[in-house]
Amino acid sequence: METFTTTALGKTELNTIEPLNIEAILKGKFHDYLARPARKLPLDGLIGHGILTADGVVWKRHRTLMKSSFSRKRLEDFSMYEDHVQNLIGHIPSDGSPVDLQELFFSLTMDMSTDHLFGLSCSSLAPTSELSPTPDFGISFDRAQRAAVVKFALGSFDNLRPQPQYWADTKRVRQYADDYIHKALDRTSPMESISGNLAESVTKSHSCDPPRKANVLESFAEQSDSLEEIRAGLLHLLVAGRDTTASLLSNLFISLAREPRAWRKLRAEVATLNGVQPDAATLKQMPYLRQCIDESLRCHPPVPWALRIAARDTTLPTGGGKDQQSPILVEEGTLVLVPLYCLHRHSDFWGADADNFVPERWDTVKPGYAYLPFLAGVRKCLGWEFAVNTAAYVLVRLVQQFPELETGDCRPWAEELGLTMTSANGARVILRTAACAQWSQRLAAFIIAVERLIFTRRLGCATFSPSHAKHFRALSDHLQL
Ligand code: HEM
Repeated sequence: METFTTTALGKTELNTIEPLNIEAILKGKFHDYLARPARKLPLDGLIGHGILTADGVVWKRHRTLMKSSFSRKRLEDFSMYEDHVQNLIGHIPSDGSPVDLQELFFSLTMDMSTDHLFGLSCSSLAPTSELSPTPDFGISFDRAQRAAVVKFALGSFDNLRPQPQYWADTKRVRQYADDYIHKALDRTSPMESISGNLAESVTKSHSCDPPRKANVLESFAEQSDSLEEIRAGLLHLLVAGRDTTASLLSNLFISLAREPRAWRKLRAEVATLNGVQPDAATLKQMPYLRQCIDESLRCHPPVPWALRIAARDTTLPTGGGKDQQSPILVEEGTLVLVPLYCLHRHSDFWGADADNFVPERWDTVKPGYAYLPFLAGVRKCLGWEFAVNTAAYVLVRLVQQFPELETGDCRPWAEELGLTMTSANGARVILRTAACAQWSQRLAAFIIAVERLIFTRRLGCATFSPSHAKHFRALSDHLQL
């Protein structure tokens, strides 16, 4: 059954993964649905009223102010990527010991987003940075995002409980955002007071600079005197862009570490670059790289569901009646949920191997509304190309630096649900540079040779038993000796 309704705590909820219905919700009948009623309670306290929580004119204004940062020219400028990747590489052990990449990717995506969107990276992976958020900020930001999910589930009952931790966390997050805004805008113009006329001071600061496109922060500051609105612009983009891209990168590495065949195929494609840093044009000519990213987003969509509230009585084209193919009435106020995780793993759309990571499936599939990691229609993710470029660039550079990848965790994948879906067990892998891989292969060859000698001596004969021979052959194959 692809469409059904449930009722909990007096709320009716309609779930659908029927592509025709999804297309109606996101596109054909877009005006019949709202985002704000479902999101204001869980999110306003933490990130304020902005693009993710707004509809109508406020949503349009925020989307317009953000758009220039996602122009083709800005998206294809990779000049800022490399420093951040080098900072990341500095945190990955070069001796082949295990590392949790997820923690590092959270910092990396924070550094890259702040650089690209606000013109000043918080450089949390750099050896020193005065803007680097303290660990307290990360803990508060993550905890408050997880609390938002509980708030959503409790609805208006949420106000009945005291939440000192939540309010302390939101205060810390806002404080960091305000300090950051001051520093980022001060960089171009010393401002006496952020609550004064921001527009004037920022415009003044550019009067003798060569003309250039303002970043998101400057766009907001030029249009608004309200620190609250500027802060909302900043925090909405951080919530939308940081964990999602970190989740994509983490899950990519988890899947590739468990599929050595896919890793080798990707490595062969990356080898055609001969170690050179990729640009936008090069990345477009790497089909397997893109297939790995698409497949990771299919198996582990960082945003696992889409939520809307019906703004008026409306209908969906299919899923009703005895035959479950008739239109369905959706009453005003109904919560409509599209579980993207289920959509992306349904065997009707993806076949019997829907649960497996198979990048090659993208040679033939054309999924339409059965694949929506960034949703679709006028509210499609604003940062999707930035996220894909970031993931592609980071992946290529890490493959070039560490040609060997192994999983460091044999537990089954498990989800952690906040506003995004991440891996509950992190992304524990082992990465080896070419030199380290060669050294460990030599060591393994040496150990095998010594073991052979000991066995031969102990068994008193020059040959192994079939099971010993099989054991050594398997080990040699695994190590590609
Ligand atoms: C793999 C990474 C990402 C995924 C999977 C993702 C997914 C999504 C999804 C599903 C939505 C729609 C939510 C809804 O309306 O229900 C969305 C919206 C949005 N995303 Fe992303 N996103 C990613 C990265 C980013 C990045 C890097 C940015 C910016 C830095 C960004 C900015 C936004 C914004 C501003 C919206 C709101 C659009 C609107 O309501 O008009 N996203 N994203």
